Amino acid sequence: MATSELVQVDLPDKGLKARVTARRDWWWIPQALTFLGFSSFLIYGNWAAWQGNHYVYGPYLSPFYSPELWGNSPHAWFGPLPQWYPQFLPYSPALLILWIPGLFRLTCYYYRGAYYKAFWADPPGCTVAEPRKKFRGENSFPLIWQNIHRYFLFLSLGVLAILIYDAFQAFWFEVPAGLSGPAESHTEFGIGVGSLVLLTNCVLLSLYLLGCHSLRHLTGGRLDSLQRKPIRKTCYECVSGLNKRHMRWAWFSLFSVGFSDLYVRMCSMGIWTDMRLF
Ligand code: FES
Repeated sequence: MATSELVQVDLPDKGLKARVTARRDWWWIPQALTFLGFSSFLIYGNWAAWQGNHYVYGPYLSPFYSPELWGNSPHAWFGPLPQWYPQFLPYSPALLILWIPGLFRLTCYYYRGAYYKAFWADPPGCTVAEPRKKFRGENSFPLIWQNIHRYFLFLSLGVLAILIYDAFQAFWFEVPAGLSGPAESHTEFGIGVGSLVLLTNCVLLSLYLLGCHSLRHLTGGRLDSLQRKPIRKTCYECVSGLNKRHMRWAWFSLFSVGFSDLYVRMCSMGIWTDMRLF
């Protein structure tokens, strides 16, 4: 019998029939790692998003808090929180924005496959039976809402553009008045470790986002042949190339976005020192 074959066995002590797998390899290891990885990120991300402070250090802005619509930092687009905001409600600039990348990742084709296995055991693994009889798929409620992924792609592309702008800003440091020449404070180009952290984060996020399955459909879909559309053909090939390693970029970018927040937070709290390289 092949090791990946499903078998039905009797459970003598309970008189029940159960479907199990004949797999003898450690098939559950990736699922366990996925569970640990996602859980750690969710716990840290939620904690960091609710803090509402220590998300800025010099020119660095945590990607969890960008764009900062209302807030107390110089990065806030519309200044401090307006008067009309109900005082009894907790506020953190991250809460206004994190739902976009959050729902984008939640509905990502790769992530679905990963968390269906790791969190819902649906199925627990390839050729491992699931603990339920019915498979309703993504064509009916509630999973049909996963189709919003394509819309969140556009919103996430907008957020990515803002993060790229933030990474550019992270190379411009404030010089206090009178320190080097001009009597007024000004900014000068520089490279800090934080600048590189935020830049790397943007590169990894771009590699993840530009390999999106929905983007692949957008660039190559609805056409019988791409031969007469050289620009679309090139875009389709680039997106497809990135899509082949979508899982890798999904994980790398997840860690990089979490680490970027941690880096800014630790520097802002005075626990880590940001080294200026230039
Ligand atoms: Fe993963 Fe779209 S399929 S980001």
